[in-house]
Amino acid sequence: MSRQYYIAGNWKMHKTKEEAAALAKALVAGLQEGTHKYLVAPSFTLIETVAGVIKGSNIRLGAQNMAPEEQGAHTGEVSVLQLKELGVKTVILGHSERRHNYLENDALINKKVHLALKHGLEVILCVGELLEEREAGQAEKVCEQQVSAGLAGVGAKDLSSVVIAYEPVWAIGTGKTATPEDADAIHASIRGVIGRLYGPQEAAAIIIQYGGSVKPDNVSALMAKENIDGALVGGASLKPESFIPIAKF
Ligand code: 13P
Repeated sequence: MSRQYYIAGNWKMHKTKEEAAALAKALVAGLQEGTHKYLVAPSFTLIETVAGVIKGSNIRLGAQNMAPEEQGAHTGEVSVLQLKELGVKTVILGHSERRHNYLENDALINKKVHLALKHGLEVILCVGELLEEREAGQAEKVCEQQVSAGLAGVGAKDLSSVVIAYEPVWAIGTGKTATPEDADAIHASIRGVIGRLYGPQEAAAIIIQYGGSVKPDNVSALMAKENIDGALVGGASLKPESFIPIAKF
């Protein structure tokens, strides 16, 4: 089964409106002829601005997080309804910065996954091990647990709206990338988990992105691996000079 490459930019907590509009404009122009699937995920306050710039282009609009409830007394949270209203099509859930700095657990992430899918959003579910877990030989086990708990109760029909992003925590923002071989091994193991939970067709179809210090000079070697279907890019997604070559690898 052929899977389309999917290159996503997670802008994290960067940019003002003016800067975001300029970046989005440069990406629209630079990726016009790009053949892969593309996404940008700006901060909530930038979404409307970026939506206006990328409208009609081949770049999808994403958000970096979402509340687990549709509405109510949730100070500081943003609802799926509010995101959909702005044209958001995809939401990143379970990012390691949410898991480790804001203490989101698998149960909360699973609740968000269900709500997003119920509303027709695509979900990028992030998983990945800490350095000490890798050193203890636990990387596969941690990812397997995060994938199966994150997707608990998600039916096969909805799985086509789910993308997994493998982001080893020790590779995020550190300049250390997993070797293509190490990343591919975890991707293969995640694909195996999907196979056991859903079946071989689902395993063959699911898109698994790699994230963690993806740069123009390492993207091709990563994407050449059988089980790596795209990238979730942080730092290098903040500049057209680095994101465009990654996206057009
Ligand atoms: P970096 O590309 O900056 O390592 O970030 C990866 C990431 O966390 C994307 O979600």
